[in-house]
Amino acid sequence: MIIAIDGPAGAGKSTIAKKLSTRFNFTYISSGKIYRCIALYFHNKNIYIQDQEKIKKELVNIKIDYKDEFYLNGLPVEKHINSDIISKNTSDISKYKFIRDFVQTIIEEISKNKNIIMDGRDIGTKVFPNADYKFYLTASVEERAKRRYKELKDSGMDVNYTEICESIKDRDQNDMNREIAPLKKADDAVVVDSSNKTIEEVVDEISSYINIDRRK
Ligand code: C5P
Repeated sequence: MIIAIDGPAGAGKSTIAKKLSTRFNFTYISSGKIYRCIALYFHNKNIYIQDQEKIKKELVNIKIDYKDEFYLNGLPVEKHINSDIISKNTSDISKYKFIRDFVQTIIEEISKNKNIIMDGRDIGTKVFPNADYKFYLTASVEERAKRRYKELKDSGMDVNYTEICESIKDRDQNDMNREIAPLKKADDAVVVDSSNKTIEEVVDEISSYINIDRRK
């Protein structure tokens, strides 16, 4: 069974998806982390994101595995993929069709034979158009920036709220307006606005739609 949760940056997708995965005993996979691992690879190699030809050629050297967490060429990298520069580069790199095709093959490989909850931008529209359940989780820009600020601050980073707010707006702009697989609600997705709700309220709301005995 596949449960897809799409939505803009900071809407709470990963927090909610993790809780749902525990509740239903599904595997939670963040598709954004795969894009982030790829952006990290190019960042570490000092390869310019706009250099498409070089990036294309390098893909054969990138191996991403998932075993409770993501590994980039054998090394656990989750601690290194959340900085603002990696978020920005990720948003830039995810515009390329060849990158999206590459990620699709990785997703298919790691999702095989599993009950999956996956979050991202195009999971319900492109990656798993036949997902059993689709949700579009959103929240106001200010609320999302507030959450991102807290998350980064709590992880010990020195951050500025206004900059985060601007970077979220830029990312929305990028993700919603790119030509390939833009962020948008699937026609058959349920919209959930998390702005004035607690995590538990959102988890309960989404859970109320899910019947895990129902398989397509
Ligand atoms: O979900 P997260 O914020 O970690 O995603 C990072 C970036 O990866 C997004 O801003 C978006 O540009 C890209 N992404 C995407 N398609 C997905 C998941 C993430 O383009 N399914």
